[in-house]
Amino acid sequence: MIKSTILPLVSSLVYSAVKTGTGVYGLSPFPIVSTGRSFEYYRKIFFENKSEHQVLTELKGKVIADIGCGLTPYVSDSMFQACRRKDIAFYGIDPKLENGFKFGLLDMLKVRIVGGGGKIDPDARGLEKGIGTLADDLPFDDDSVDLVLSNYAMYAWINDDAILEGIFEEFHRVLKPGGKVMIYPTPHLITQKPKNASFREIMSGFEIEQKFGGDTLLFVKYPPAYMTTYIKR
Ligand SMILES: C[S@@+](CC[C@H](N)C(=O)[O-])C[C@H]1O[C@@H](n2cnc3c(N)ncnc32)[C@H](O)[C@@H]1O
Repeated sequence: MIKSTILPLVSSLVYSAVKTGTGVYGLSPFPIVSTGRSFEYYRKIFFENKSEHQVLTELKGKVIADIGCGLTPYVSDSMFQACRRKDIAFYGIDPKLENGFKFGLLDMLKVRIVGGGGKIDPDARGLEKGIGTLADDLPFDDDSVDLVLSNYAMYAWINDDAILEGIFEEFHRVLKPGGKVMIYPTPHLITQKPKNASFREIMSGFEIEQKFGGDTLLFVKYPPAYMTTYIKR
């Protein structure tokens, strides 16, 4: 009872904080901030803190896409680079990758602030899997992707129902049946309810689960918020 009342409240407070200053790509009056994360972060948020070896073994032979990946492909200790080293098909998707990121002095600092310990290398290996496109226009065949991850992009920055609808439609197209989308941080499901009937119809193609994640002690790095998993029916 306490859990069901308090967690949505904490989540909505954290979520309002996350939303301060964010907006919709191309529509926001503010430049969208791009950051990059470590594999350690992804393991904790998306893979229940399993070891690097365990995660990579489970993903061998799978196709994974990281939506709104930001600087992550350039970060040496990222999941993108760990998968490249093990020959796992892990793609970074971000419109800013189209012409390569323009690295500024602040980029290393931004990666450090969000917890990445690696180096940023503008000529990192494997960048052919860093694809400059929007999330609603993915370069994958129908029913070909096993897992979509998205950290601090969907719902945090991309929060317009019409854009979200197009993106979920695209996720449904590219995912294999039983394939998953995992998004963090997300608002409580009650506040994710689409107003539009066509959006609701698209979402009915997914089974949806939510889990409260993050870390109350390390709350700056891992803010307490919901991780939502959408499984293609
Ligand atoms: C705050 S960054 C997050 C980067 C990275 N995922 C991380 O956790 O550090 C948000 C990223 O989402 C990207 N983005 C915004 N709108 C997008 C869209 N419609 N499709 C794909 N990526 C988008 C931005 O270019 C930006 O790099």
